Amino acid sequence: MVKVGIINVTGYAGAELARLLAKHPQVKIASVTGRSAVDQPLGEVFPHLAEMGLTIQPHVDDVEMAFSALPHKASAEAIAPLIEKGVRVVDISADFRFKSAEDYPRWYDFHHPAPYLLTEAVYGLTELRRPQVAAARLVANPGCYPTGAILALAPAVKGGLIGGDIIVDSKSGVSGAGRSLSLTTHYCEVNENTQAYALEGHRHLPEIVQELAALNPALSPRVTFVPHLIPMTRGILTTCYAPVAEGVVPINPKGEAEIIEEYRSFYRDEPFVRVVNAPPQTKHTWGNNACLIYPTLDQRTGRLIVISCLDNLVKGAAGQAIQNMNLMLGLPETMGLEALPVCP
Ligand SMILES: NC(=O)c1ccc[n+]([C@@H]2O[C@H](COP(=O)([O-])OP(=O)(O)OC[C@H]3O[C@@H](n4cnc5c(N)ncnc54)[C@H](OP(=O)(O)O)[C@@H]3O)[C@@H](O)[C@H]2O)c1
Repeated sequence: MVKVGIINVTGYAGAELARLLAKHPQVKIASVTGRSAVDQPLGEVFPHLAEMGLTIQPHVDDVEMAFSALPHKASAEAIAPLIEKGVRVVDISADFRFKSAEDYPRWYDFHHPAPYLLTEAVYGLTELRRPQVAAARLVANPGCYPTGAILALAPAVKGGLIGGDIIVDSKSGVSGAGRSLSLTTHYCEVNENTQAYALEGHRHLPEIVQELAALNPALSPRVTFVPHLIPMTRGILTTCYAPVAEGVVPINPKGEAEIIEEYRSFYRDEPFVRVVNAPPQTKHTWGNNACLIYPTLDQRTGRLIVISCLDNLVKGAAGQAIQNMNLMLGLPETMGLEALPVCP
């Protein structure tokens, strides 16, 4: 059994890590932390986790592997000393996702406390970086929106199927905003309401651009990303639009079949990414580590449309973090992540 710790189990991502790791056959949760609940039983904060019998501690102690589910900045500050001590870490925050330290003051409003770790950290979109994740000391787990957007676009970007003018339109459940209280996420503000936000540039935009550019340096992606908050608890549905590059496939049913085949072959052996035959719905991935992808060709405009969906707390956070941990420990990638979605 590998001894693991969860830093900040008192947030939604941390609690979801605990829920999923509770049944992992090769992991023992040795310690969990949470600033507001030190010395309290985890079951007092989250009754659904009571059977785990854990008590919240001030620091992770005596672990071989740690997950950080802290907010940005606090996460980097907590992780740097752990790496020094030889603990391998998966960070669920954004603190090691960018390659350039200069992006942090610009997008997250802080100066990075451990910039020397940014080149070493591996951006852990598992399906695209397996060997690097397996060997990493520090994995930067991708953001929830970027996971859905990048997986939806990766086959088209890597295969040179589309031009760089890309639109990403996402709808997210409210747990994506975390457990901390804010006016925007009050019941009365969210219920029976839908709103677009961060049109001036969401923090996940540079992450999407960074990773699409890495997949195809010739593309120079120009991404318009508009997230929406919708009245549900979990899930992200993303629709991506991009012009099909001239001459790569005919703009007709045969061209669409070629695109779908490219997607199927790209994700052929993936346990968690599935190309589906009909537009996926968020309920199809609720509580489960899958990302479902539906590519189509709009034959009137020559645009590729790709829909993806995932659970923001699972494939978009805790589930993908465990998938990365499994790789880092040389365990089967699906271990502890086999549960089917809850539906309806
Ligand atoms: N929610 C998602 O869908 C999702 C998906 C992917 C990634 N993430 C990332 O995962 C991390 C956690 O997100 P979350 O949604 O789980 O957040 P959350 O539910 O809002 O949890 C935040 C908790 O962090 C603690 N906290 C706040 N500031 C702190 C500080 N300076 N030092 C120590 N603890 C602090 C607070 O817990 P106490 O009350 O105990 O102090 C707060 O309740 C974030 O970096 C987020 O970007 C979230």
